[in-house]
Amino acid sequence: MTDHYAVIGNPIAHSRSPAIHTAFAAQTGQDICYQALFSPRDAFEAVVQGFAVGGGRGLNVTLPFKEQAFALATRRSARAQAAGAANTLIFDAQGISADNTDGVGLVRDLTGRHRLGLAGMPVILLGAGGAAGGVIQPLLAAGASRVLVVNRTAPRAVQLAERFGPAPVSGIGFSDLDPALAEGVLLVNATSAGLAGHDLPVPAAAFVRAAFVYDMVYGAQATPFLRQATTAGARACADGLGMLVEQAAESFRLWRGVQPDTDPVYRGLREAIGAR
Ligand code: ATR
Repeated sequence: MTDHYAVIGNPIAHSRSPAIHTAFAAQTGQDICYQALFSPRDAFEAVVQGFAVGGGRGLNVTLPFKEQAFALATRRSARAQAAGAANTLIFDAQGISADNTDGVGLVRDLTGRHRLGLAGMPVILLGAGGAAGGVIQPLLAAGASRVLVVNRTAPRAVQLAERFGPAPVSGIGFSDLDPALAEGVLLVNATSAGLAGHDLPVPAAAFVRAAFVYDMVYGAQATPFLRQATTAGARACADGLGMLVEQAAESFRLWRGVQPDTDPVYRGLREAIGAR
C-alpha cells in the first residue's frame, strides 16, 4: 500500500520537496506518494490532524509553521528541542513525533559535498530567527569551536546565544562585526534579508577573511548574499541547495529506514533550477 507524505507550508506551491522525495523513493524502491500541502496560517493544527486521520505517515514542515509543529508533537527529539522547532513530523501508533533535520542537513552539505573540515572551525552565523536557531547545536556537535550570532536586532542575537548555556555561543549586532572576528570562520547567512533582495551590512574585509561563505538560501542565480561575498573577494562559497537535499534525505531516512544517495538528486535539481 502506498504511504502518504507531504510538505506543509504557506506559501508552498514552489516547494522542491515533492520532487526530491519522489526521486529518493524511485531510487530506493519505496512505495510512497509525497505532495505539497497548503495550510492557512490559522489552521495548521487542523490541517495536520486531518492529514494524519486520512492515513498520512509523515510531514515536512516549512515556513511559517516550524515552531507550531514542534509545539503540537507528543514526542520531540533532542535536536528538535535544541532548535525549538521541527521540520519533520512522524505519525505512528504512539502519536506525533517531532524532529529537526535542518542542522544535520547543513553539516552534511558542508562536510560531505563541500569537503569543509568543521572540527575546530569558528562560525559566524548571521540571523537569530528559527533558521539560525536550528543549526547552532548541530554545528557545535560537528566540532565548530564557537558560534558568534550576528543580528540586525542585537538583543535577539544575545537571547538566542544564551539559550545554549555554557556552550561557546555569543551574540552581537552588525555594528560590532569587526572583520578581525571573521578570520578563518565559516560565515553562514541564516537571515531572510536576501528573500526581499536586501544586502547585509557585512564589511567586505569580513568576507575576505572567512574560510568559507554559505547562504542557507538558494536560487537559479547567485543569491544577493553570495553576490556580495564574491564581489568582496570571498575565497569559497556555496548556496543552500545541498542543505535542502540533505535535510530531505535525513527526513526520508527517519520515515523509511533507508538512506538515499543525495548526489544524483542534487545534480538533477541544480540542472532543473538552472545551472550556474
Ligand atoms: P526564520 O525562521 O526564517 O529565521 P525569522 O524568525 O523571521 O525567520 O528571522 C528572520 C531573520 O532574518 C532575523 O534574524 C531578522 O533580523 P531581526 O531579528 O533583526 O528581524 C533577519 N532579517 C530579515 N530581514 C533582514 C534585513 N533586511 N537585514 C538584516 N537582517 C534581516
